[in-house]
Amino acid sequence: MMITGAIDMDIDDPRPVPEPALLHAPLDGAARRAGIFPQPDLPLTDPSVLSAPTLLKVERLNLFYGEKQALDDINLQVARHSVMSFIGPSGCGKSTLLRCLNRMNDLIDDVRIEGRVMMGDTDVYAPGTDVISLRKRAGMVFQKSNPFPKSIYENVAYGLRIQGQGDRVVLEEAVERSLKGAGLWEEVKDRLKESAQGLSGGQQQRLCIARALAVRPEIILMDEPCSALDPIATARVEELILELKREFTIVIVTHNMQQAARVSDHTAFFWMGKLIETGLTEKLFTNPGHRMTEDYITGRFG
Ligand SMILES: Nc1ncnc2c1ncn2[C@@H]1O[C@H](COP(=O)(O)OP(=O)(O)O)[C@@H](O)[C@H]1O
Ligand SMILES: [Mg+2]
Repeated sequence: MMITGAIDMDIDDPRPVPEPALLHAPLDGAARRAGIFPQPDLPLTDPSVLSAPTLLKVERLNLFYGEKQALDDINLQVARHSVMSFIGPSGCGKSTLLRCLNRMNDLIDDVRIEGRVMMGDTDVYAPGTDVISLRKRAGMVFQKSNPFPKSIYENVAYGLRIQGQGDRVVLEEAVERSLKGAGLWEEVKDRLKESAQGLSGGQQQRLCIARALAVRPEIILMDEPCSALDPIATARVEELILELKREFTIVIVTHNMQQAARVSDHTAFFWMGKLIETGLTEKLFTNPGHRMTEDYITGRFG
């Protein structure tokens, strides 16, 4: 099952985490070493992001797996046509929160959610909300690329087929548009009927992005999409993210802080189910507001 593969189980990490008391400790001047991370030539935030309307709004969100609380009072907003990264140590709740945004957690037993998630005007957890159309609006790309054992063409057409689309012209148009959108068209246009499993890892991951694009989502949720890719394939996906944000809104979980710095407008840092800090990526990495954030981004824990 797809969802199982998306869940990190490397949670019982024995490494020590900082004292909760540090959470609200003010940063002293010496600790604000601007530019310590990442590259000094970090691009400036696209000003359009600052005034973009909110597309996703998370309010007072708590999530429990059985007795265990995995998200603790999360408040967060994602602007339309922006990229937000979720960073933080393994097990801090990044994937859990990502799955809350399009109700993928519904598929897990014994989950209890409190609070509110808004996707545009849609109250994601309201009783009448249509979960299928919600997941269409917010497509998902997982850590491990998971093409179906079908042709390249059928992988991309899949979402439309299950919606009942059988018109060959419509499907062909959607497959081409989506593969172009995912930056894969030129590489595969002559082998659409071949098995998707013959593609390289990086191509498979872009194929999964194409599959998500085929149903015309507004939002793309990515859970560590590059962690199984080599640096070149990673760079290709990162370029793609920067292109896609013109049309889509992207939330990406990454354990790679340079990646967060390269692709995202905003970054949210989580620790043990809490959102410690969120803000413009550039600010968060060069002048974080919390010592915990600074300790994490400078590699003192994680
Ligand atoms: N399906 C699940 N059932 C029970 N606990 C889970 C499940 N998925 C995640 N958790 C727990 O929730 C916490 C957050 O996990 P997760 O969201 O996967 O963290 P991250 O993506 O930041 O590594 C962890 O303690 C993890 O063990
Ligand atoms: Mg995860």
